[in-house]
Amino acid sequence: MAHPRHRLAAALLGATTLLLSTVTLAVAQPIIEGERFHPAVGTHGMVATSNTLATQVAHDVLAQGGNAVDAAVTAGFALAVTQPQSGNIGGGGFMLISDEKSGKVIAIDYREKAPQGASETMFQDEHGNVIADASRYTANASGVPGTVAGLALALDKYGTLSLAQALAPAITLAENGFAVPQLFSDNISQARERLTQWEATRKTFFKSDGSVYQPGEVFKQPELAATLKRIAEQGPREFYEGKTAQLLIAEMKRHGGIMTLNDLNAYQPALREPVHGSYRGYDVYSMSPPSSGGAHIVQILNMLEGDDIGALGFNSAATIHLMSEAMKRAYADRSQYLGDTDFVNVPLAAITSKAYAHSLRAQFDMQHATPSSEIAPGQVAPYESDQTTHFSVADDQGLAVSNTYTLNFSYGSGITVDGAGFLMNNEMDDFSAKPGVPNAYGLIGGAANKIEPGKRMLSSMSPTIVKHDGKNFLITGSPGGSRIITTTLQVIMNVIDHRMNIQAAVSVPRVHDQWSPEEIRIEQGISPDTINLLEAMGHTVVTKEAMGASQSIVIENGTFYGGADPRRSTSAAMGL
Ligand code: DON
Repeated sequence: MAHPRHRLAAALLGATTLLLSTVTLAVAQPIIEGERFHPAVGTHGMVATSNTLATQVAHDVLAQGGNAVDAAVTAGFALAVTQPQSGNIGGGGFMLISDEKSGKVIAIDYREKAPQGASETMFQDEHGNVIADASRYTANASGVPGTVAGLALALDKYGTLSLAQALAPAITLAENGFAVPQLFSDNISQARERLTQWEATRKTFFKSDGSVYQPGEVFKQPELAATLKRIAEQGPREFYEGKTAQLLIAEMKRHGGIMTLNDLNAYQPALREPVHGSYRGYDVYSMSPPSSGGAHIVQILNMLEGDDIGALGFNSAATIHLMSEAMKRAYADRSQYLGDTDFVNVPLAAITSKAYAHSLRAQFDMQHATPSSEIAPGQVAPYESDQTTHFSVADDQGLAVSNTYTLNFSYGSGITVDGAGFLMNNEMDDFSAKPGVPNAYGLIGGAANKIEPGKRMLSSMSPTIVKHDGKNFLITGSPGGSRIITTTLQVIMNVIDHRMNIQAAVSVPRVHDQWSPEEIRIEQGISPDTINLLEAMGHTVVTKEAMGASQSIVIENGTFYGGADPRRSTSAAMGL
């Protein structure tokens, strides 16, 4: 079997024009009594986030006449207060905005950047061995944060609210506090040991005796409230140039970090062209590099389009086999080609072409699994506990927003900026610390994703908007590290191929194959018979904890349907 580079080159040279057959299916969203899953319903808009309070404040914005971008930015800042494990101002992410009226879909890239002092080998010891903790739990684990600039840019371009208005609910939640949900308490308990070693983190997120806030207890964040107020009064550059910037750099320096005020001053978000593909007559828009998400969702869909997945059946052995074969080929390519296009050439057009997908599909053996070693060599790494968060918003003016942002791990590096009350990301671990050595998600990267000053680390975050006949149809995305791509893919397949309503589509069991480690990872709920059939084809099947948390929306015939992922107990979709 050829190495991925050769396979792609061959497909490019041989550029066959053979197009895969496409079938357009009607999707039935209307609520049918007796179904086991029911989406939230609205006639004027929908908000779906992973946190009830964030959903509520964003819903209020829509109800008061704000548009989807106003509501999304409000949710983004609120999550930074109510869900500190992943909601953030010390991290970064991606936002897709679809404006039906102009027909444009734009992507805002507010991914973190490596500081100027960063270097290719900064996480290696003198023998060239990777020191994993250095890219995860230190001041140097942090990239230059992009969230404040990114959310402000979205508001500036498409919103109607002022930044101060969009920040107001977050400031109130930080100042007055909120009753913590069980999930908040459980998550912080699990991370307690690693978090309390940082003085400012202990002071900010734990009670004065060092104990954890219990469900129902009120948690206030006065320092974060003051930071958000400074940004509201002075604008987004305050974070990069003002008192917040000084506090941030002081914290980094206190712990031996290389980030400087110049790094913060220089940070700018970027407007990108989203990746565009089609699937059975639907238009799929998803995040372009420095995310790998869009490229590989489109690539996998292209490989699956020629088979009648709906007829093969939801989570049948035949369907999972096809998905696994397609997924591992995509992840092999990811390891080779994907990186920040401001620094490296990514053969995006080739990876997302129907012709290339067709050549890959031709390699599948319907009876036998292709060993990962025949696709390309790989190594295994343990999974880390993790959190990121996705939210989706749509209004009745034709605007839809799909946003995924993160600190990388839950609570990022664990370091809180003293005096400013927010956690810093540990996104530097998403670079390849050394070619061939996997990161925390078991993902392997090559030269395309090596560390360079000012470069953005490769991501899997996949905010996605699917359109049908020029109208916003499905707004989706998920957290889940390397599983983001396959989780988002399955929500699309569940709606288009399996004709599920959106609440069912985000709830049902998921599968995942990332080429290395060599296994199909499944959630509970796939029958032993199916597993036996997959094992007979040569697949290794392992059941592990749940994957992703997709907060999604479908719009059909002017009605908005929201799906809140039950994998997170605080998820909430609310229509109006
Ligand atoms: O950008 C990425 O791909 C990762 N930093 C995302 C991490 C993540 O999703 C953790 N989540 N559950």
